[in-house]
Amino acid sequence: MQMVRGISAALNGSGRYKYKRPESAVDFLVVGGGVVGLAIAQRLSQRFPTCSTYLVERHSRPGEEISSRNSEVIHSGLYYPADSLKTRLCLRGRDMLYERCQNHHIAHRKTGKLVVARADQRSYIENLHKKSLTLQWPPHSPSQSRGMLVLPTELLSGEQARALEPNLSNDIVAALWCPETGIIDSHGLMESLEKDIIDSENGELVYSTRVARIDPYKRTAIAAGTPDIDAAEDGWVVQTVTGNGQEGDSMLARTLINASGLSSALVLNTILSESKRIPMYYARGSYASYNGPGISQVSHLIYPCPETGENAHAFHSLGTHLTLDLHGKVRFGPDIEWVSPPLTSDGEMDADFWMKHLVPDESRLGEMHQAVTSYLPGVILGGMKPDYVGMRPKLVPPQGGFQDFIFRTDHSGRPRNAGDRQGTMISLLGIESPGLTSSLAIAEYVVEDILKAENDK
Ligand SMILES: Cc1cc2nc3c(=O)[nH]c(=O)nc-3n(C[C@H](O)[C@H](O)[C@H](O)COP(=O)(O)OP(=O)(O)OC[C@H]3O[C@@H](n4cnc5c(N)ncnc54)[C@H](O)[C@@H]3O)c2cc1C
Ligand SMILES: *[C@@H]1O[C@H](CO)[C@@H](O)[C@H](O)[C@H]1NC(C)=O
Ligand SMILES: *[C@@H]1O[C@H](CO)[C@@H](O)[C@H](O)[C@H]1NC(C)=O
Repeated sequence: MQMVRGISAALNGSGRYKYKRPESAVDFLVVGGGVVGLAIAQRLSQRFPTCSTYLVERHSRPGEEISSRNSEVIHSGLYYPADSLKTRLCLRGRDMLYERCQNHHIAHRKTGKLVVARADQRSYIENLHKKSLTLQWPPHSPSQSRGMLVLPTELLSGEQARALEPNLSNDIVAALWCPETGIIDSHGLMESLEKDIIDSENGELVYSTRVARIDPYKRTAIAAGTPDIDAAEDGWVVQTVTGNGQEGDSMLARTLINASGLSSALVLNTILSESKRIPMYYARGSYASYNGPGISQVSHLIYPCPETGENAHAFHSLGTHLTLDLHGKVRFGPDIEWVSPPLTSDGEMDADFWMKHLVPDESRLGEMHQAVTSYLPGVILGGMKPDYVGMRPKLVPPQGGFQDFIFRTDHSGRPRNAGDRQGTMISLLGIESPGLTSSLAIAEYVVEDILKAENDK
């Protein structure tokens, strides 16, 4: 209860919006039209065609934040602890993504990738190789795949790696070949999800609209009665503001799913006591386009071994790598640079400060060039140009270790009856890489596992 009172106070930090009786009701409300919110809304609208599903996005188009500033790599699921949600959802999401790409004609290519190692890094890729051979098929995988390896990899010698990529440094003594890695047109993916929602019976996309306040539904507040809201309902009252409007629209969401990306931890924090707060860190990643020598006939993604050490943790960044886009253009990145929000005088944090850090600049090129020439020595600084910048929502600081995706469940308060799904709020936190690869599996997990379990309680 403490918690719930906290939520109503805190979700309206500025105090600008007052509680407002809902004028309408929706079965499922998804906040955030990035690739994850779209995937969840798509699944809900297909799975429950007779229920209403709304997706609310503050920009005029989907995917304007994290989802349009990443490497567009379909990851194979190599790096994370075997029992983590990141591994489970990446492996499952990868297969779902390839299948969707095929069925919906979304541009993609299974390029495969090489993780290249110097002599001192050989054990790192040997360990990845060993782990990959022991991984189990994740839940919901089709049974016919079970006989095969979920993550086939192969250890290559330096010569074998150079036979695939002739410009690799002679210091590279071994490489791990991952045939399941690929690239995807992430905008094509988001468009296909959008189309499914638009074509669904009761799914709706609401753009240029932001969620400004959330309260647990107060049953006493419906004195006059609103036709489609039953007094015994439960859920969350969500106020949305469209465009530059001042006045919010109020709607009852029977189930609320928060997929608001970089913003998702901020407000949740204001409702938690200091010791329970979810920390939030931001790690900027810059990309450089490349046009020049030293990458002759390059046709695979090339990753160095992630740097490890005092201020660099393998789980934070996979190292400045070479990716290809679907037109064969080469780019390097993302590097990693930690940025912190400036605190205002009253100790508040500007939720959107990171938007001011998205302009790529030359300052990162020197270090990126240095990182790249450790495995591709023929690459020249003059061929690198700032391309774009992405922002990673991090739940652990620079020295921190592995952090999994978090799916947090809250209820709007009332003790619930059996078979009652109402009043659940699921908040998705720390959906950084491999969030694009995992998006369809995240949707499957939220709908088929978390919501189903809530329903069966
Ligand atoms: C540099 C970088 C490289 C990456 N590379 C890869 C990769 O190669 N492969 C891979 O699998 N993953 C990669 N990722 C991870 C992947 O991009 C993300 O996990 C994924 O895009 C997250 O999607 P999302 O929907 O959670 O967030 P977002 O795309 O940020 O979507 C959240 C949405 O919520 C909206 N929103 C926020 N607040 C409100 C509000 N109050 N009201 C209404 N709407 C709101 C925002 O406008 C936004 O559109 C990378 C990430 C980064 C940063
Ligand atoms: C859900 O997302 C919205 C939009 O970012 C945010 O205002 C709200 O605080 C989030 N709710 C929780 C509980 O995190
Ligand atoms: C890259 O490989 C090509 C093909 O083998 C070769 O002709 C070229 O000299 C190499 N360039 C560098 C910089 O190593």
